[in-house]
Amino acid sequence: MVQYLMSSEKHYISVQTKDGETVRKILLTLELLDSRYKIFSEDGTLYFPIKSKLIGDQFSILNSTISIDTGVRDFDEIPQDRRTLGDALEGKIPPEELSLLPRAYDLIGDIAVLEIPDELATYSTLIGEVFHNIHSNFNTVLAKKGAVSGTTRVREYTLLAGEDRTKTIHTEYGCRLAVDVAKAYFSPRLLEEHNRIAQLVQSGETVVDMFCGVGSFAIHIAKQKEAKVIAIDINQSAIDLLCESIGLNKLVGTILPVAADTHDYVNTNELSADRVIMNHPSGASDFVGEACSILKPGGTMHYYDFIGGDTPEDTLKEKVTRLVENEGRKVKNIDLVRRVRDSAPYEFQMVADIVIQE
Ligand SMILES: C[S@@+](CC[C@H](N)C(=O)[O-])C[C@H]1O[C@@H](n2cnc3c(N)ncnc32)[C@H](O)[C@@H]1O
Repeated sequence: MVQYLMSSEKHYISVQTKDGETVRKILLTLELLDSRYKIFSEDGTLYFPIKSKLIGDQFSILNSTISIDTGVRDFDEIPQDRRTLGDALEGKIPPEELSLLPRAYDLIGDIAVLEIPDELATYSTLIGEVFHNIHSNFNTVLAKKGAVSGTTRVREYTLLAGEDRTKTIHTEYGCRLAVDVAKAYFSPRLLEEHNRIAQLVQSGETVVDMFCGVGSFAIHIAKQKEAKVIAIDINQSAIDLLCESIGLNKLVGTILPVAADTHDYVNTNELSADRVIMNHPSGASDFVGEACSILKPGGTMHYYDFIGGDTPEDTLKEKVTRLVENEGRKVKNIDLVRRVRDSAPYEFQMVADIVIQE
C-alpha cells in the first residue's frame, strides 16, 4: 500500500509530554486545536497544530499553569477520508502500476504538485482527480512536465484537476510569498535554508542575493532583520513576484529588487556587501569573481552547488577554496558545509558558508 505523505506549515503550541493530555483538552475547549493535522512528538515534547497564532490573552491563559512554547513548523495532514491514493485507485489502475504512484508531493500555497512517472502517464488525469477528491482543500492539482531547465530554472506543468492556474501565495515561517510556478523558480523544500540564512544576518548588514528567484531569502531576511537586501534575478517575472511579496509582508528591513543579469549589475554598480547569497547550484561557480569583488573583508559567501561522490563535504570545501583563491581572495574560515537536499541519485545540493579574509 502506498503511504501518501503530505505536510503543511502550521502554528503550534508545544509542551512536555506529561502535560499533553491537559493541554489537548484546553485546546479543544478553546476550539484552537487544528484536528486536520497530526499531533507530533519529539524528544519528550508534544507539538499541537493550532488553527491560528495565539492572540490576546490566550498565551497567558495557557501558560499560567503549564509551561508552553509556540512557533511554526510542518505537520502531517490526516487524510480527510484516511484513504491513501493507492487505496482510492485500486481496481482503476493495474496492481503492478499502483506501486509506481508518487509517495510525496509539493504543497505550494493552495496548489499541489505531483510528479507522475512516465509509466503512469496515461492515468495522469485519473490520478489527479482522485487525488483532488481525497485532498479537496487544494484548489489546483498540477503535474510536473519535465525538469527545471534554462537560465530561469523553470519547468512546465500540466493541469490535472481543479482551477487552471499556476499562481498562488505560499507561506513559510510566517513569510507570505507570491509564487507562479510556471513563471519563476520556487521550491517549497528550501524553507529551512531561507530561515537559517535570515537568522545569521545581523542588523545593519548589506546582503546581496545574486539569484533571488521570487525573493524567498530576501523576504525572510527583511522580515526578521533591519538589513538591506539587494535581490537580483535575470527573470523579470521573478522580480515582479518579489515586488508583490514585499507588499504582502510587514518588513523591518529593506529590499531593493533588481531585474538584471548579476554579472552586468555587479560590474556596473559600486557594491559593498557583508553577505552574498549564491543559491544557483548549477551556475554559482561562474559568479565567484563577482562575489569576491563586492564582499568586505570578514564578509560571508553562502555558496550552493550540486556535488556527488562519497565525500561531498570535502569536495565542496576544496572546490570553493580554489574558486575564491583564483579570484585573489583568501578563505578565512568555512563556518559550515551541509547537504541541503538530494538532487539526484548520489548527488546533493550542498551549501558552504565561507568567511572571506582579504
Ligand atoms: C535556483 S533559482 C534561485 C532560487 C532562490 N534563491 C530561492 O531560494 O528560491 C536560480 C535563479 O537564478 C536566476 N539566474 C540565472 N542566471 C542568472 C543571472 N545571470 N543573473 C541573475 N539571475 C540569474 C534564475 O532566473 C533563477 O531564478
